[in-house]
Amino acid sequence: MRLRDKVAIITGAGQGIGRAYARRFAQEGAKVVIAEINPEWGKRTEEEIRATGAEAWFVPTDVSSEDSVRSVAAQTHQKYGSIDILLNNAAIFYGLDREDSSLAYFNRILSVNLTGVWLMTRAVEPYMKRQRRGKIINQSSTAAYMGNVGLVDTTDPDKPSPPFHYSVAKMGVNGLTKYFAGSLGPWGINVNAIAPGVTLTEATKSVVPPEMIDMLVMYTALKKPLNPEDLTGTAVFLASSDSDMMTGQVLVVDGGMIMLG
Ligand SMILES: NC(=O)c1ccc[n+]([C@@H]2O[C@H](COP(=O)([O-])OP(=O)(O)OC[C@H]3O[C@@H](n4cnc5c(N)ncnc54)[C@H](O)[C@@H]3O)[C@@H](O)[C@H]2O)c1
Repeated sequence: MRLRDKVAIITGAGQGIGRAYARRFAQEGAKVVIAEINPEWGKRTEEEIRATGAEAWFVPTDVSSEDSVRSVAAQTHQKYGSIDILLNNAAIFYGLDREDSSLAYFNRILSVNLTGVWLMTRAVEPYMKRQRRGKIINQSSTAAYMGNVGLVDTTDPDKPSPPFHYSVAKMGVNGLTKYFAGSLGPWGINVNAIAPGVTLTEATKSVVPPEMIDMLVMYTALKKPLNPEDLTGTAVFLASSDSDMMTGQVLVVDGGMIMLG
C-alpha cells in the first residue's frame, strides 16, 4: 500500500475518472473524502469503497463556492486530523456544450474548471502549510494543448469564434499548477498535474462524437483510448513519496499523442 493512512480529498469523485481515482487511492490505504456536487453519485462512490472495508466519506461540495470548499477542508481536518493530498479533478465535462459561446457560459465553465481549482487549493493551503507537507494534483487535459486549432468558420466575420472555454480552463489549470508549485514549494507542498488524453467515460460519450474519438485515437502512438483506471497509477505516483522531488510538472498520459511538445 503506497498511501497508507493518508487523507485525500478528491473532487468530482462521484463518477468517471474521479471515481476511479477514489477507488484506487482507497485500495492503496488512503482515507478518501469524496468532494462531489451530485449527492447520488457521491454516495455511490462512498458506499462502494466502504463495501471493500476501506475508509471513504462523501461531503457534498461545490468547488466553485468559496464557502463550500472551506467547509470540506475544515470538516476533513476536523474528522481526520490532516489533509495530505488534494486531487482537483472536478470539472464541467459531462454534457458540456461545445458550441455555446455566450459570456455567461464561458464564465460558468471557468468558475468550476479553473476557479474551482484555485479555490479548492486555497482552502487546503493553510492546513498543508501548518503540516509543512502536502501533495496537490490537478486534472488538466490534452485539450490544453490543442484547443485553438480545429473547425473554424471563416465565412461570417460577425460570428464569434468557437468558445474553447474548456481548453482555456485547462490551459489555466496548467498555469495554476506552476504558480502554486512556486508559492507552496517552500512549505514542502508539491503541486503537479495530469493531462489525460481521450478517456472512455460517460462524460466523453456525452460530449465527443464517436468518429472524433476514433480520429483522436488514430493520432496516438499506442492506438487505443484510455480507461479511467489507466490514469490511477500516475495519480498514486504523484500522491506518494516517490514524487517528492517533483513539482510544477504536467504529466501527459494520452497514449502518445502530445509527445512532441
Ligand atoms: N474523459 C476524458 O476524456 C478526459 C480527458 C482529459 C481530462 N479529463 C478531465 O478529467 C476530469 C474528469 O473527467 P470525467 O470524464 O470523469 O468527467 P465527469 O463529468 O464524468 O466527471 C466530473 C465530476 O465532477 C463533478 N462536478 C462537476 N461540477 C462540480 C462542482 N462544481 N463541484 C464538485 N464536483 C463537480 C461531476 O458531478 C462529476 O462527478 C475532468 O477534470 C475532465 O476535464 C477528462
